[in-house]
Amino acid sequence: MSQLTDRSRHVIAPTQAFDTDIEVVASEGSWVTDATGKRYLDFTCGIAVSNLGHQHPLVKAAILEQIDSVWHAGGVFWYESLVRAAERLRTITPEGIDQFFFMNSGAESVEGAVKLARKTTGRQGVVVFRGGFHGRTMGSVSYTTSTAKYRQGYHPLVGSVFVTPFPRPFRWQMTHEDATARAIDELDLMFKHEVTPAEIACFLVEPLQGEGGYYPAGKEFLEHLRDVADRHGILLVVDEVQTGFGRTGAWFTSDVYDVRPDVMVMGKAIANGLPLSAFGAPAELLAKWPRGSHGTTFGGNPISCAAAAATIEALADVIPQVPKLSTHAFERWEELQLRHRAIGDVRGLGLMIGVELVGDDGHEPDADAFAHISAFAKQEGMLILPCGPDGNIIRFIPPLTVSTEDLDLGIDILDRALGDLEER
Ligand SMILES: Cc1ncc(COP(=O)(O)O)c(C=O)c1O
Repeated sequence: MSQLTDRSRHVIAPTQAFDTDIEVVASEGSWVTDATGKRYLDFTCGIAVSNLGHQHPLVKAAILEQIDSVWHAGGVFWYESLVRAAERLRTITPEGIDQFFFMNSGAESVEGAVKLARKTTGRQGVVVFRGGFHGRTMGSVSYTTSTAKYRQGYHPLVGSVFVTPFPRPFRWQMTHEDATARAIDELDLMFKHEVTPAEIACFLVEPLQGEGGYYPAGKEFLEHLRDVADRHGILLVVDEVQTGFGRTGAWFTSDVYDVRPDVMVMGKAIANGLPLSAFGAPAELLAKWPRGSHGTTFGGNPISCAAAAATIEALADVIPQVPKLSTHAFERWEELQLRHRAIGDVRGLGLMIGVELVGDDGHEPDADAFAHISAFAKQEGMLILPCGPDGNIIRFIPPLTVSTEDLDLGIDILDRALGDLEER
């Protein structure tokens, strides 16, 4: 145990879980350095946050410049970086998403978006999709079903939340088309047996489930939700907290699938590491939300907003490179899948790739395999995170600024880790 982790035992709530015991003292680009001087290739990105890598110069300059003027305005004063960040967001969000409400975390923005939907539709029902992750506050955990652990012990949760399946082709051992058809059937059954569409304020959906196991929704499923929403006056709230800001190869995954959200939730990479989140919606919808119906003290912090505006500027040059890096990464992973029997499935979009590790039957989730591979990688100087309810999926999320050499270095380490696993 390092001196720091030892000190932390006395003062940090043990519930606050850290994925490693590493004490980070420096970070740059795709790399972090620990207190002993050891360097690690950071393919965690602080859980899909630092899409531009650590210490991006443009973002750093914007932060330093803002520090010299205003740090906090708390809903009392106007400040330029707030409007600048919103104007930049307006240039990259899907058509119709034209006004924004800034908050601090993904969970908070999810809650704001659902409050907006409830208040403006006058309906209380919320439909969420099994395996979805939307946060851990009381409201957002009521929409989260990525693992029962997050909900255990907190009931009763927020009411009138209806959970229906999300397409999971590999787990269901089905083709993508059949899994989509099954999820659509289940939604129809829910409307027949549990709640009518006229009672639903919104669908809350991730276009590619993150925590739940890196399952892409697929265009047909999202188009179906769009269609049902239009027919029944339901709002389509798309949670792009993890999938946004270039992660899947376009600004947002709604662009990849070309499906229009009514409300879009953003967070994580929005300010490349400074705490900020936002939800956006059409001006006509936001005009129906009475002034002061929702609020925040810290949301839209001036420094975070300056960082967000710079992040968007910097990402404009980076995102066009993502499809090439993605193709390379998928080619390599698919080749590894041919050689390593522990890889059951490789899926995802852009640089949001899930590599599902399985047992000898080719299907049973193998969390021990992930533990072995991540420990091997850490030893070799590389950091990865798991996802999925069984903790058996490698969440492959390098920074979008990663060099091809570092991308290959990371995959080479995981290739060796898989070989070591098979020799056990
Ligand atoms: C899709 C999605 N929504 C919401 C959240 C919650 O964000 P936060 O942890 O900032 O509250 C996350 C966090 O992982 C997420 O991945």
